Amino acid sequence: MDYKGPSLPVRTVAESQSEMTELILPNDTNTLGNLLGGRLMHFIDLVAAMAAFRHSRTHVVTASMDHIDFIAPVHVGDLLILKSSVNRAFNTSMEVGVKVWVENTIAGMHRHVASAYLTFVAVDSQGRSVPVPQLTPETDEEKRRHEDAGRRRELRKEELERRRAMLPPETAIYGTVRPGRK
Ligand SMILES: CC(C)(COP(=O)(O)OP(=O)(O)OC[C@H]1O[C@@H](n2cnc3c(N)ncnc32)[C@H](O)[C@@H]1OP(=O)(O)O)[C@@H](O)C(=O)NCCC(=O)NCCS
Repeated sequence: MDYKGPSLPVRTVAESQSEMTELILPNDTNTLGNLLGGRLMHFIDLVAAMAAFRHSRTHVVTASMDHIDFIAPVHVGDLLILKSSVNRAFNTSMEVGVKVWVENTIAGMHRHVASAYLTFVAVDSQGRSVPVPQLTPETDEEKRRHEDAGRRRELRKEELERRRAMLPPETAIYGTVRPGRK
């Protein structure tokens, strides 16, 4: 679905909050029976994309995933619970926060295993970035996340500039070569 025009709604955090639960099976794990880090990142990307889709109601692409710590192992047979919400909408991009817990199915205990911030960019069917609806934070927690997301965006920009400056000029990164873009 392409972006249709300038009148974008303003949305709340609750409208796009998303949740996903996965049963960890042997195919998701390493030789010790622990969830693979890359598989966890895949689940994080998916649940974050759900919130970004629901907020923007258009195509979205992952522009970046911030630093992620794997706090505790997840074992085969555990349930992985992932929750995502849009922290802030900018022009064409959105920061989505994801928090992940593991539930031991036998003991019924929950433990926080990872958190991540991702940036998604809304695009049309040609891959061109399009504006996203603005976000109204309602609760104190949502307002704090909204403020923090603004600070993280500035840090990301500085880091991106720093990395760009370190690369040889002929190296194409971050959307410099993309179909449908000048
Ligand atoms: C993400 C992407 C659309 C950005 O394209 P671009 O030409 O750099 O776009 P622009 O410079 O116009 O920036 C568009 C927005 O993306 C944001 N952005 C671009 N690169 C970013 C990055 N590395 N991290 C966070 N935000 C980024 C910009 O801040 C801008 O946000 P704003 O409009 O809210 O101010 C482009 O790099 C792309 O298509 N990448 C591939 C995405 C993909 O395939 N993801 C799947 C993972 S493999």
